[in-house]
Amino acid sequence: MTTYDFTGRTAVVTGGSRGIGHATATLLAASGADVFLTSRKQDAAEAAAAQITTELAGLAGAGSVTGLAGHVADPDAAESVCATAVARTGRLDVLVNNAGTNPAYGPVADQDPALVAKVFEINVTGPTIWTRAALTAGLGAEETGAIVNICSIGALTMEDGIGVYNASKAALLHLTEQLARELGPAVRVNSVCPGVVRTRLSEALWKEHEAAVAAGSPLGRIGEPADIADAVAFLASPTSSWITGSNLVVDGGELVGTVGK
Ligand SMILES: NC(=O)c1ccc[n+]([C@@H]2O[C@H](COP(=O)([O-])OP(=O)(O)OC[C@H]3O[C@@H](n4cnc5c(N)ncnc54)[C@H](OP(=O)(O)O)[C@@H]3O)[C@@H](O)[C@H]2O)c1
Repeated sequence: MTTYDFTGRTAVVTGGSRGIGHATATLLAASGADVFLTSRKQDAAEAAAAQITTELAGLAGAGSVTGLAGHVADPDAAESVCATAVARTGRLDVLVNNAGTNPAYGPVADQDPALVAKVFEINVTGPTIWTRAALTAGLGAEETGAIVNICSIGALTMEDGIGVYNASKAALLHLTEQLARELGPAVRVNSVCPGVVRTRLSEALWKEHEAAVAAGSPLGRIGEPADIADAVAFLASPTSSWITGSNLVVDGGELVGTVGK
């Protein structure tokens, strides 16, 4: 595990009960941050926090992990989680807008408008809600603020079957750049665009045909949550202090590897 220096810093990670958010919370805490991770369910959040705490026990310099319930589209939950983080640690430095969903499969024109609205509520409105709450709670007060939005390579290309999801991630990519303009210099805002990563959300994309998906990428494998966590930690850390409004594609070369094959 590559660690960065988050000693004395506080991070909120939405959707940290499993997958990419869980790996990110683990790495940030291993790197010294006090991490507040969320789930829709208190027990799932607490279980994830307890599991990471056990994993990091004895690691010199590790921070703490706290699990809190909070639906990503609930402004009250966002305010409560961010306020709790500041009440307990005195500061807020990092927000990782990770929670996302993809319930809409098939051609865009076939989708129920309510489902389209749901995708955008979670994947686009959600990050604006948590950004607002984090700023209100004091993100960037010490000019160390960093927001990392988890987008997708689907934001950068066309794919059959998940067009609504990809449009929502394209919107989040645009918001990343807009927020970088609005929030500097106190807060840097960047995004990560993962390719196919081994998580529950993306099972339909890899579970039955992992070898074929892996073969389409120059690096010959699908991603693991830790691959994305490394990129998030870099963009959230002081190591990237002159980077804002940028996007980091972390896809094993999937985008460049599949065209024309
Ligand atoms: N896996 C991939 O291949 C891939 C590729 C590109 C981008 N991404 C993006 O990466 C991010 C993380 O996805 P993942 O693959 O790690 O998925 P995952 O393993 O299914 O984890 C999703 C996390 O988000 C939480 N969550 C879901 N809906 C939520 C809501 N309404 N409010 C609060 N939390 C919610 C879940 O917690 P609970 O269920 O406990 O509430 C869980 O912790 C998403 O934004 C996704 O779009 C994933």
